Amino acid sequence: MAIRNIVQLGDPTLRKKSFEVTDFGEKTHQLLDDMKETLIKADGAGLAAPQVGVLRRVFIVMAEGKYFECINPVIVSQSGTQSGEEGCLSVRGKYGAVTRPNKVTVKAFDRFGKPFTVKAEGFLARAFCHEYDHLDGIIYVDKADYVKGEND
Ligand code: CO
Repeated sequence: MAIRNIVQLGDPTLRKKSFEVTDFGEKTHQLLDDMKETLIKADGAGLAAPQVGVLRRVFIVMAEGKYFECINPVIVSQSGTQSGEEGCLSVRGKYGAVTRPNKVTVKAFDRFGKPFTVKAEGFLARAFCHEYDHLDGIIYVDKADYVKGEND
């Protein structure tokens, strides 16, 4: 495993639409392992592949004691709303308030190409939505009611 560099807002990679994954082999496993190590080191709740410069529809979420690896994810249903603050490892030192669905159902594939469905609510639902947006080049600051620096 290896720590990968997390690109920051302003890097054009973050604004591109990621491509579907067709390879569920060694290269994708390496990417996932590296992303996990990178996320743990950065002490974040989630990380999407474009944040490490890879335009593939892959993200991971690590929150509330759970860990998910989602490949080619689709948000198949959502309900309710929640408003709260979030940050992003690609927007260092800032946080902002974003309205998100309170509940989501996500369908995705695991690293071996096996489909699974996960239902999430609250913070976990927020994390899935935030990471999903990265795959379409959307950053939370685009949707935020406000963005503040940590020292503002
Ligand atoms: Co982010």
